Amino acid sequence: MQIISGAAVAEKVLEECRREIAELAALGRKPGLAVVLIGDDPASRAYVRSKDKKCRDLGLHSVKLELPVTTTQDELLAHVHALNNDPAIHGILVQSPPPKHIDEAAIVRAIDPAKDVDGFHPVNVAKLALEDSTGFVPCTPLGCQRLLIDAGIETSGAHAVVVGRSMIVGKPMALLLMAKGKGGDATVTVTHSRTKNLAAITRTADIIIAAIGRPHFIKAEHVKEGAVVIDVGINRVDDPTTEKGYKLVGDVAFDEVAPKCRAITPVPGGVGPMTIAMLMANTIKACKQAS
Ligand code: GUN
Repeated sequence: MQIISGAAVAEKVLEECRREIAELAALGRKPGLAVVLIGDDPASRAYVRSKDKKCRDLGLHSVKLELPVTTTQDELLAHVHALNNDPAIHGILVQSPPPKHIDEAAIVRAIDPAKDVDGFHPVNVAKLALEDSTGFVPCTPLGCQRLLIDAGIETSGAHAVVVGRSMIVGKPMALLLMAKGKGGDATVTVTHSRTKNLAAITRTADIIIAAIGRPHFIKAEHVKEGAVVIDVGINRVDDPTTEKGYKLVGDVAFDEVAPKCRAITPVPGGVGPMTIAMLMANTIKACKQAS
């Protein structure tokens, strides 16, 4: 059984990023990313802080906008428009989920698709479906695909079962796996909270992508012997024995599932580090594509 180290593959991606950043610097260009956070959700704050830190580590231009929870839709739109028009900014990410009074879909549509490094804008969703490589693919599924490729997992002809249908992970993951070419060409089944006989379906999978957002949801009974399991979950569960009072666990019951697997990603240290690495890669791509 192989444990796929997201941390190691992410470091490889970041090394490629450093090389591209140096090449751009030689041309007098510097990729810039703006990360916008509305409100003070602790998990979102932690994500935003680590994205900003990674940008600075790499020498990217990073702008972090931390807006109060009382920020109105119009105020947020004004920030997005300003970032759209800022030539030093090539990527814009508005941390999801925003507070309830914000219309997230309208915010996503307001972002210039050429700066939508999250890949959430309808233009980029369409480009993914059309297999147009100029588009931006959401960072988490892109990172999962890169993990499969780097771990030498053959996706061509494999039955991949995606558990979860979110716009951030499940749906784009399915499109990536069914696209033509490396890391694609799979036969894809998408399952979700209304799926009947889920375990019977996941047991037919050569590759399972678990993106349901429920701690330890995928158990040994869901997995066939020799399957590859990619765990996208990052769930906070109470744990009074830790300093913070919680720990992070995946969507997969790792201890019982891992012994059945050919390969599996751990949590933490699996998909998590890949998401940020792919965000950096998308920001560099946006800079290169900017005229
Ligand atoms: N919240 C959880 N994952 C993501 C992500 O990839 N992008 C944004 N903007 N928000 C998120």
